[in-house]
Amino acid sequence: MRFHIHTYGCQMNVRDSEAVEALLVAAGHEKACGEADADLVVVNSCTVRQKAEEKAVGKAGNLIAAGKVVGLMGCAVKRMGEDVFRRLPRLDFAVGPRAYGLIPRIVEEGRYPRLELGDDMVPECLAAHVESGWQAYVTVLLGCDNRCSYCIVPDVRGHEYSRPAREVVAEVSALAGRGVREVCLLGQSVLRYGVRNAAWDERDAPSPGGYAEAFPRLLEAVAAIPGIERIRFTSAHPGGCTDELVRAYREFPQVCRHLHLPVQSGSDRILAGMGRRYTRAEYLAAVAKLRAFDPEFSVTTDVIVGYPGETERDFEDTRSLMEEAGFDNAFVFKYSPRPGTRSAALPDDVPTAEKERRDQVLLADQEARGLRRNGELVGTVREVLAEGPSKRVAGRWSGRDSGNRIVVWDVGGKSYAPGEKVMVKVLEVHPQVLVGVPVA
Ligand code: 5AD
Ligand code: SF4
Repeated sequence: MRFHIHTYGCQMNVRDSEAVEALLVAAGHEKACGEADADLVVVNSCTVRQKAEEKAVGKAGNLIAAGKVVGLMGCAVKRMGEDVFRRLPRLDFAVGPRAYGLIPRIVEEGRYPRLELGDDMVPECLAAHVESGWQAYVTVLLGCDNRCSYCIVPDVRGHEYSRPAREVVAEVSALAGRGVREVCLLGQSVLRYGVRNAAWDERDAPSPGGYAEAFPRLLEAVAAIPGIERIRFTSAHPGGCTDELVRAYREFPQVCRHLHLPVQSGSDRILAGMGRRYTRAEYLAAVAKLRAFDPEFSVTTDVIVGYPGETERDFEDTRSLMEEAGFDNAFVFKYSPRPGTRSAALPDDVPTAEKERRDQVLLADQEARGLRRNGELVGTVREVLAEGPSKRVAGRWSGRDSGNRIVVWDVGGKSYAPGEKVMVKVLEVHPQVLVGVPVA
């Protein structure tokens, strides 16, 4: 069949879709140019907020109406269970976020409708990749056991499971052999790698640097793989910002100077209600530790506005925390109750218009802060890996520095290859972009 995959949601979903693509190609199917051109369309869904779920379900509905064979995969499937066929009566198949490995067989058998939720299943095909480019995502931790009050992820992505470090190292080595130079290690709370189940065992050689914690030790092992120039990972919880993690940042220049560290709120009262297991002071201490090691260290975050009971004072605490933390970038989300989560039992009492206002205030603050933080980088030279031509301005290329900041420069008649290292001197900044010129 000619297939197309449409992906919503986070990097984990992007990675899962890539694995499905590789599996379908291995099974003899052909990638279509787009959905119009496809016989089979798989929609990979997100359910973190209600709107996200509606988008994926709406998309699948349109594709069904267009006469395609349609499969829905991912987080929304697990949340809806059998209800998915009430919402989409003519859907052909639906697989949960850990069951995507079954897709080639389901398509082969063609016995529709079919539902596979997968629960805590560990896909056998975690290492399936398509041949592509110099960057790759690598899943290291499945599921999540954090159980924050508002979050649907533990219900849909199952319990935590850390892949054996040996498997991760083998996967990254294979990718490096195919020209990959930047990997991003993925897990919902990736610093909990090796906490619920052991990731290292007695068959593994001891850590050369004496790392005792599973994740920093994994960074050490991945940094030792020839050809891997950059290592990123996401997402993090301040509880994982240990001295060993900072040591790994310091000792391995491949480990990028950036951490996405969702804070969610700056109010201790709300943080306690959310079950985040840190206080405002502890969060700020984690940020200070990273910036003490490198003042340019980039910290980005997620924030929820309008959590049940969030007062003006709680909101102002979030504002001031964001200022104190000096975030380099921030994603702001309006609280959306998710069925079955603990906070769904609380009244969703912040009016939509007020959530909207708080969202706008935080975004405006972040624009100013981003401009100020980036302004401190004017005149510095960034080591950039080139990604491709800028989508906004013709004649420019764009890439990222170690801090994950977007850097653009005028090509001035020169040609660049994706993944090429370019040293760029910063001349001018925007809240989320650095503009510069290449230097020798
Ligand atoms: N409502 C709004 N935002 C949410 N997030 C997670 N659950 C919800 C929810 N119920 C946000 C968090 C998380 C990001 C991926 O999505 O900020 O870090
Ligand atoms: Fe969406 Fe969360 Fe699932 Fe990612 S893990 S796709 S953000 S629900």
